[in-house]
Amino acid sequence: MTRLPRLLAFIAACTISALAIAQSQDPPATAEAAEAVETPAPQAEQDAPAADPAGESTGKPSSKPYVDLRRAKPIAGNAAAGQAKSELCAACHGPQGISPVPTFPNLAGQRADFLYWQLVEFKRNPDSPMSPLVAELSNQDMLDFAAYYAGLAPTATPAEPDADVEAEAAPADATLARRGEQIYMSGDPSRGIPPCQGCHGPDAGGHVNALHADRDGHAPYAAYPALRGQQAIYLQTKLAEYRNGKMRDSTTDFVMTGVGERLDDDSIDALSAWLSSLPPGP
Ligand code: HEC
Ligand code: HEC
Repeated sequence: MTRLPRLLAFIAACTISALAIAQSQDPPATAEAAEAVETPAPQAEQDAPAADPAGESTGKPSSKPYVDLRRAKPIAGNAAAGQAKSELCAACHGPQGISPVPTFPNLAGQRADFLYWQLVEFKRNPDSPMSPLVAELSNQDMLDFAAYYAGLAPTATPAEPDADVEAEAAPADATLARRGEQIYMSGDPSRGIPPCQGCHGPDAGGHVNALHADRDGHAPYAAYPALRGQQAIYLQTKLAEYRNGKMRDSTTDFVMTGVGERLDDDSIDALSAWLSSLPPGP
């Protein structure tokens, strides 16, 4: 873990430049995009992820401003190959996919399709702290990492937490967590917040139809992530990013942005407290 302080400094530098870039961009056209999600894709169906989602053969990202996951097909990677390449990832995501730092997401047991498409988005979009780390990855590498981390038991023992960061993470308050559970299950009609369970599952393990492909082989809900047992600070950061319209790299980003825009700080804290208090895994 001696490399961790340097990595944290690196992340901080990346985040600051990412914020600067984000501020210089126009606000996202979320309303239009969210509407597009409701209607079938007019353009040619995307045979994801086979072809060239990250634009590798051309050397530049696809001309589309965002990844269209409405007709994505389920992914398949080689978990053993992913494990063999995972040493660098372990520094931040833990040797078993459980992050030692509450600002970095746990990956163990996450939906493979979600992991894969996040990596594709990091590759297309230079704004994330992950972007420099995925620059050299091939499409096969990303498929393999997704298969590897999705297959890890999410109950794996967390790595030794970093003492400094742990001190900042407030213990989940029971009242706050109960409020979070209530919003998760029933939404908050007064703010127009829909129940989270409709998309992330009653057990917060991902969409209930995640594994159901339709007769054309499309699995539109495969990339709806599991949330249970995720790191609290990571959840807070992510929800704030959706709320601020920072996430605009895929059709699924637009779906979640429509929800995030309705959250206030209190609901974000409550939801993060409850979700992170759940034991990971199904
Ligand atoms: C320097 C620390 C660091 C290293 C090394 C690192 N990551 Fe990450 N990773 C992060 C951070 C921070 C995020 C959150 C990024 C964001 O939200 O924009 C993240 C996010 C992710 C996500 C998205 C998870 C989610 O829930 O949205 C995946 C997948 C991922 N990393 C995979 C990898 C893989 C595979 C490797 C090795 C090739 C790796 N990471 C190496 C810090 C790191
Ligand atoms: C209409 C469907 C829908 C609803 C309702 C919904 N979500 Fe999401 N959520 C998504 C999708 C799709 C994604 C994946 C977005 C992406 O690709 O980054 C997502 C992503 C997330 C993430 C990021 C996870 C990660 O590891 O990066 C969090 C956190 C989250 N949602 C929390 C919530 C909470 C809390 C609620 C309830 C207030 C909620 N969601 C309601 C569809 C939904």
